[in-house]
Amino acid sequence: MNKPVSIAVEDLAQPLTYGVAPFLSPDYARAEKDRLWPRVWQLAERVEDFRDVGDFVTYNVADESIIIIKTGEDSYNAFHNVCPHRGRQLVDTPDGVHSVRGNRRNFVCGFHGWTFDTEGNNVYILDQDDWKGALTPDRTCLSRVRVDSWGGWVWINMEPEGETLTAFLERAGEVLTHFELDKMRYKWRQWAVYPCNWKTAIEAFMEPYHVAGTHTQLLDYGDYYAYSVAYDKHSVSGFDQKGLAAKMSQGGSVSRAGKGNDPRVSTYALARENYETLNYTGSSDTLVAAAKRLVEELPEGTPAGEVIAHWMKSAKADDAARGVVWPEIPADIMAEAGLAWSLFPNITILQGVTFALCYRTRPYGDDPDKCIFEAYALERFPDGAAPATEWRECDPTAEQWGAVLAQDFANMEWVQKGMKSRGFRGTLPNPHQERKITNFHRNLAKFMGTGEPRLLK
Ligand code: FES
Ligand SMILES: [Fe+2]
Repeated sequence: MNKPVSIAVEDLAQPLTYGVAPFLSPDYARAEKDRLWPRVWQLAERVEDFRDVGDFVTYNVADESIIIIKTGEDSYNAFHNVCPHRGRQLVDTPDGVHSVRGNRRNFVCGFHGWTFDTEGNNVYILDQDDWKGALTPDRTCLSRVRVDSWGGWVWINMEPEGETLTAFLERAGEVLTHFELDKMRYKWRQWAVYPCNWKTAIEAFMEPYHVAGTHTQLLDYGDYYAYSVAYDKHSVSGFDQKGLAAKMSQGGSVSRAGKGNDPRVSTYALARENYETLNYTGSSDTLVAAAKRLVEELPEGTPAGEVIAHWMKSAKADDAARGVVWPEIPADIMAEAGLAWSLFPNITILQGVTFALCYRTRPYGDDPDKCIFEAYALERFPDGAAPATEWRECDPTAEQWGAVLAQDFANMEWVQKGMKSRGFRGTLPNPHQERKITNFHRNLAKFMGTGEPRLLK
């Protein structure tokens, strides 16, 4: 059972603080293995990685390893990756390997040869009579894990019963479904073992409040004042408007007019800058090319709202001509969708109509000072035109990840170290712009039974 917390979603607008034990404590990291990871829905892998029936992928988190197997057009089974005989992993998952993939009709244990079908039934035991009838099917089958799909991802939940994936995703699922993320495909996908806690890492991608201090070059192209909205488990941020002038030019999402007197020019400058420094995501070739034409296609003095509307219309037509069909997203959903969503506990999705930049972080063994960090770009491609990609392990450099992510990396490690200081009096998150983070700790406390944010008095 989750522990009730006294801080409600509405209270997140107040100045709050939360402790550093979740980032630093080895005991806390060990407790997550019992209290958090076995009890939440976790995004395991993209559906596109399961092509044929029998395709399997392992998903590891902390000490747990799960085998997910495609069993039909849109159906999957998931099992704990352990043989019920004497506990050997059925599929070896060496440290340092992102995930193990293959195609099998049967899983044969490497130790004594017990064999399992893709339904998890045991279909072979050497010398079964020696057990004198004690080996009933429920003792010899694989341990099942709940599995479902949404958004083009396969998700797992180790808790045998509980809320459905749809219920878990709550409003985030309803809003993001309009973006048809399931029709996007990987453009690139990268991972690294990084020297900070998994929470330090994901929190570096929860708020645009850091843009002014970290990505200073972006200030030439746009304003980055942000709002954040907490739902129950999940949260969203978007670009906010402090004044009327900004309201005219700034939208909540990444595809917006930039800073400057001529929105035809600033829209292109911002889109190009984002695209080139975000490792060619956060926009698309089509959007950047259409933005570049704005100065030719629109008269000087066109208001920002009309510039954005024209940009979207012409990019949509360009994409349609190459076989990329945009989903129709109602204006109110577009507004609610904002810039980027944080799905509890370890996912961030920055969405556009034709692209998404996604992050996932996971613990690295029992070490609170390390994590597995992953970022990947999704894009809407013409049928059959998506590139073949694999998970690439990459050093955290600008060459590998783009200038903007390298700037984020250049904080995370030092946040992890700084929080250990005796001189650190505790966190002071921004009540307007960093509410995704306080909501994350509010939810974390429910699972962990400790660490609830408290009001700064
Ligand atoms: S541990 Fe798997 S067959 Fe013995
Ligand atoms: Fe950043």
